[in-house]
Amino acid sequence: MKIHLKIWRQKNSETPGKMVDYTLDEISPEISFLEMLDILNEDLLKKGEEPVAFDHDCREGICGMCSLYINGRSHGTEQGITACQLHLRSFKEDDTIYVEPWRAQPFPVIKDLIVDRSAFDRIIQAGGYISVNTGSAPDANAIPISREVAKEAFEAADCIGCGACVAACKNASAMLFVAAKVSHLALLPQGQVEKQSRVEKMVAQMDKEGFGACTNTGACSYECPKNISLSHIARLNREYLTAKLASKHLS
Ligand code: SF4
Ligand code: FES
Repeated sequence: MKIHLKIWRQKNSETPGKMVDYTLDEISPEISFLEMLDILNEDLLKKGEEPVAFDHDCREGICGMCSLYINGRSHGTEQGITACQLHLRSFKEDDTIYVEPWRAQPFPVIKDLIVDRSAFDRIIQAGGYISVNTGSAPDANAIPISREVAKEAFEAADCIGCGACVAACKNASAMLFVAAKVSHLALLPQGQVEKQSRVEKMVAQMDKEGFGACTNTGACSYECPKNISLSHIARLNREYLTAKLASKHLS
């Protein structure tokens, strides 16, 4: 198949970027989107041109690195998958595909399609951990957890920290990401020790990084490749309110 690409090229964070046109002829519809970018880069290298910089690691929907905004949607127009799981068969012959990096002030562009998502790392460092000594693997039934709670905690733990929720949100809010991390640990007994300080610290760091407020449009959950539910944002709000009331009561 033949496809046309309009790709965001930007030398570095200080230089203004622009869309650049490329055309690929006779490309297999069975290859993945990232393989298509690999082929484009091989062509560019053969011509002595600078290849397109893009982030990737696992290429199987696990690491959350492939932060591509494709045809105006986080990870492309297919729901429930990451950009690396997208294949060219999702497009038509002679299609023009727009490829951009995540657009959000807390995710500055490093080069071309690569953005700096270390703001997410700093939010995790602020409280997304447990410090209880868990020792060796406990017996399966040593700490009974109901099926419903385990299922919800596992669903929250599905978040791969890709940042698609931020890119999809008109406010560049990181609430779905933070909610998934807070929810995951707040639901489990191992997460109870830092429950209160965790939510306060993670929300404070989220605000410090410059992410916007949540106005409940639901775009984050709709575009999330792991289908993280908005119900986790509701839990984050409850956890935050409870923590604030408790620290006010103690002070
Ligand atoms: S909530 Fe979804 S979209 Fe946001 S970082 Fe996690 S996996 Fe990515
Ligand atoms: S490259 Fe790992 S999720 Fe896409």
